[in-house]
Amino acid sequence: MASSSRSSQPKVIVGLDFGTTFSGFSFAHRSDPDDVQSFYDWPDAGRPYCKTQTSLFYSPAGELLAWGWSALKAYSEALQVSSSTGQGEVGLLVSKFKPILEDGELAKSMLEVLPGWATAEKLIVDYLGCISEFIGGHLRQKYGSCLLREEVAWCLSVPAIWSDASKRKMEIYAEKAGIVKGKHCSSSEASSFPLKIVLEPEAASFYCQKQLKDTAILCNGDKFLTVDVGGGTIDLVVHEKVEGGSSYEVREVSASSGELGGGTYVDKNFLGLLKRKIGCLESFDDPETLHKITRWWLGSLGKSSFDGTGFKLYELPRKLSKAWKKFDEQLGCAEGHDEEYYEEIKLSEEELRGIFDTEIEKVAALIDKQLSHCRDTMIQHVFLVGGFAESPYLVKKITEKYNSSNAGVTREVIAPPSPGAAICKGAVALGFGTAAVVSRISKKWYGLRTAQRFQEGDREEYKFVNDEGADMCDKKFQIFVKNGESIAEDTFVSERNLGPSFAKQRSMTIELFSSSGEIAPSYVTDPGCKRLGKYIFDISENMELGNKRSVFVSMYFGRSTIQVFAQRINFGKNRQPEKLYCVDLSGSSIGRKRKSRI
Ligand SMILES: Nc1ncnc2c1ncn2[C@@H]1O[C@H](COP(=O)(O)OP(=O)(O)OP(=O)(O)O)[C@@H](O)[C@H]1O
Ligand SMILES: [Mg+2]
Repeated sequence: MASSSRSSQPKVIVGLDFGTTFSGFSFAHRSDPDDVQSFYDWPDAGRPYCKTQTSLFYSPAGELLAWGWSALKAYSEALQVSSSTGQGEVGLLVSKFKPILEDGELAKSMLEVLPGWATAEKLIVDYLGCISEFIGGHLRQKYGSCLLREEVAWCLSVPAIWSDASKRKMEIYAEKAGIVKGKHCSSSEASSFPLKIVLEPEAASFYCQKQLKDTAILCNGDKFLTVDVGGGTIDLVVHEKVEGGSSYEVREVSASSGELGGGTYVDKNFLGLLKRKIGCLESFDDPETLHKITRWWLGSLGKSSFDGTGFKLYELPRKLSKAWKKFDEQLGCAEGHDEEYYEEIKLSEEELRGIFDTEIEKVAALIDKQLSHCRDTMIQHVFLVGGFAESPYLVKKITEKYNSSNAGVTREVIAPPSPGAAICKGAVALGFGTAAVVSRISKKWYGLRTAQRFQEGDREEYKFVNDEGADMCDKKFQIFVKNGESIAEDTFVSERNLGPSFAKQRSMTIELFSSSGEIAPSYVTDPGCKRLGKYIFDISENMELGNKRSVFVSMYFGRSTIQVFAQRINFGKNRQPEKLYCVDLSGSSIGRKRKSRI
């Protein structure tokens, strides 16, 4: 019954934001795509919020016991049992594990402290499995059990700064978690619709546009910067609103940018400060106490309420205050300090500002960079979203710095409501195709390996003589697309006529290269160059034309693919364009029928 009644369009689209600290979802039914709803009542959460903790709790043997807020609760309870009974291992609480997906130093250091079985794949697949199961249950409650999981389409958001390889891994893990059908998942329960990977700042940008729909703030031609300040990444994108068929159509003005940073780095600074103030804390090995401190800091009396003014007093857990006193006594510096001195800690306004300022400065530096990239174009609005944009202090500082009405430049910082839900809500709009990015800025150079006339200064080792006796230079990087160039999606870009170097040549090797460097590459062997595809193209007909045979090469850019085509222009029987290969930049399996949709 399931497959026979299934339509070619999904009934419900879910936007899933798997974040470093928190994860959440939004959804809408196809009967009313504008009615995007979020979920707030997560089990074991202290207060309603649009996201739950990105945490998992395992038994010491590696069995998954709880996820989300419930993982924290289960861990707290296990700690209490352990401290009252003196029992050993309590199990493993894993939080903020999203960054282990992106290869690098951070991932390495995170994996080092985890047991061998807790691989990036296991953690992410476990988490996605739990949250998608939960979402499925909620949707059934909402729409009735006649809504099948396979009728739901999923949009999963990823940081724009992630590599294509990490985005690909997310797709595979989503299949392994049973969300969508594919090579790694054949479950009849899984969605039959391809997973759509959306970029977090792009989803956030559409959320902001939707929020301002009823105001006259955004006009065609306006340029706006969206800054997604999350727990572990800061992601930026500059869009220009363009007139188009769909309600929200934009073009990317400069390449999206970002770096690691945000709320969890503020938490690290807080712990660092506490360790400097409380001498014994560095070597204090009591998970229950550390858990209590973190809970206070993340709660309403901790970082959330800091607006840049006032101090905070924190009553220390008893075990810690006793250990601190003892530590000072051993060092001989307890004199003059009474019992009360060790019972609470005061964080001054200046110290609290210091904890936040490193991250706020990171955000400001990234905004500055985008503003300077776009110096010819005026950015009228700066949107602040992501959970960290709930911080009144961050919003105040960024507003003070970037609100401007000087010398004819009017720029306004806008922090829309529910900034934490911006990504998953925007992802739903992208899923329905009611929002689109019509062109993006290339972050790389793309081109073909060619042989060109030898010029003064060319590399001697690549020199050869063709059969007309001309000096040629091999391994030249012939640029088709420049780094920073605007590329319309789903269009042919850059086309060139190429020919053989030798009259007797029966084939031509057509090799596509990319280069991630700032400076235009000269040779395909330059640092940063990577071969993406290779094809031996037959040119053995009409050999009498020798090196006058002409081949027309073109590239077709999709959202995450480049297809390379070649066409015999003046020789051979088949003069139709032939697709040589398709390079899957992110391995995306996104199916796209309409033009210019994400
Ligand atoms: N009022 C607030 N003041 C300060 N920080 C806050 C406030 N509310 C939330 N945060 C912080 O925002 C961060 C979470 O933001 P968000 O949910 O956007 O991140 P994420 O999606 O988990 O991370 P990422 O997008 O980087 O993967 C946490 O570090 C949280 O403590
Ligand atoms: Mg996020």
